[in-house]
Amino acid sequence: MALDIVIMAAGKGTRMKSSLPKVLHKLAGRSLLQHVLGTAASLGATRIITITGHGAEQVEAAVQAPGLLFVRQMPQLGTGHAVQQAVPQLHDEGTTLILNGDTPLIEAATVRALVDACGGERFALLTITLADATGYGRIVRDGEQVRAIVEHKDATPEQREIREVNTGVMAVPTKRLKGWLARLDNKNAQGEYYLTDIIAMAVADGVPVVTAQPKSETEVLGVNSPMQLADLERRYQRARAEALMEAGVRLADPARFDVRGSLTCGSDVEIDVNCIFDGEVELGDGVRIGANCVVRNARLLAGAVIHPFTHIDGEAQGVSVGRGALVGPFARLRPGAQLGDEVHIGNFVEVKNSTLAKGAKANHLAYLGDATVGERVNYGAGSITANYDGANKHRTVIGDDVHVGSNCVLIAPVVIGAGATIGGGSTISKDAPAGQLTVSRAKQVSLEGWTRPVKKR
Ligand code: UD1
Ligand code: CA
Repeated sequence: MALDIVIMAAGKGTRMKSSLPKVLHKLAGRSLLQHVLGTAASLGATRIITITGHGAEQVEAAVQAPGLLFVRQMPQLGTGHAVQQAVPQLHDEGTTLILNGDTPLIEAATVRALVDACGGERFALLTITLADATGYGRIVRDGEQVRAIVEHKDATPEQREIREVNTGVMAVPTKRLKGWLARLDNKNAQGEYYLTDIIAMAVADGVPVVTAQPKSETEVLGVNSPMQLADLERRYQRARAEALMEAGVRLADPARFDVRGSLTCGSDVEIDVNCIFDGEVELGDGVRIGANCVVRNARLLAGAVIHPFTHIDGEAQGVSVGRGALVGPFARLRPGAQLGDEVHIGNFVEVKNSTLAKGAKANHLAYLGDATVGERVNYGAGSITANYDGANKHRTVIGDDVHVGSNCVLIAPVVIGAGATIGGGSTISKDAPAGQLTVSRAKQVSLEGWTRPVKKR
């Protein structure tokens, strides 16, 4: 049976006070609409139709993916009017599920149950009972039986006492839906075409109306203001933190922890406060992350230790950190940094598109870009690979057991043979042979009898 999903995302979001359309604001690194689309995609729908209006071009460009349909609603005359725009895209039979683009944390299991309850025949409505129902559409019942939804602005004082409200999520027989939408009018307090009016039509047509509730209120909270966005972000992060802690991850403080993507952890992982994990991050057994680290698109093998204030960003290429490697504090690993086992990267060291073999060390103030570094290499403080000639990038190859002194410039392309020593302060523009000391700097001289200038009187 066909399942069509309609996501309403045309509203302006005035209370965000932002030039960015509301549904493009981000929660845990993804736009509100992407969260809803992700949930929709997991339901195996035949069609997913997003209703855009305010900032339509920007919204469509931001979430564009194969198989997604967009329908524009111009102007925006209410939720009923929004769904009317999708009618030409809906199948003739089956179920239509309606979701809100600004309600990001709705769970797949909740909406799946609703779709099952509809079964292409019944009207299945997701409701919730709130302590304060102000502003919401109230569920008017006659005994157990749902009769109608009355919007807050149209409700009588008695109806305003009702605390069971419409979440805006519903699964409706598609054929019936089309008929009801065609009969909507805007004779109400807001002069809008209310989608919620179709409930009374269903009742009048003898279509059974069933209700379900979400597991938690968080699932149906919408975002209308920066405050609500921040509140949902914290709820989301708390849930992620709790799931990780239940799996054994030790978080110093679940309130100071953020995941914006997928974080996979082995056993005995420890994460100190104020860390952000973005994109795809994998932490092996016993990995320890110090305070104030940002880790994005990276794979850290067992026993790796990341000291505080380290920034790791693998972008598209990724970063990998070997077993027992030590990184930071204040280190920066960029795309293509591949650290072998027991590598040490110290403070103010930047590594980009470079491979460091087992036991290599760059402990202080250094840059390694487009380099291949052998085992046990010691790369001195202040040394850099000059990998960019202003037009092209070139590689530096450093053999096993090389010792690069402090403050050296290795001008790529260049090869330093295994076991070579590069004297401190050298600028190396030609290959250095294996096993030898290579020095390139002015010879040290001392001038006998030289006197310091003295100030003239
Ligand atoms: C709506 C419901 C109300 C429910 C509440 C839950 C109606 C008439 N009322 O009220 O019963 O309790 O949601 O949050 O449906 N939108 C469009 N086009 C429009 C108008 C709205 O796409 O012309 C979209 C908005 O972007 C938003 C959603 O529909 O994603 C809901 O609109 P909103 O104005 O927030 O509805 P409420 O008045 O809060
Ligand atoms: Ca409204």
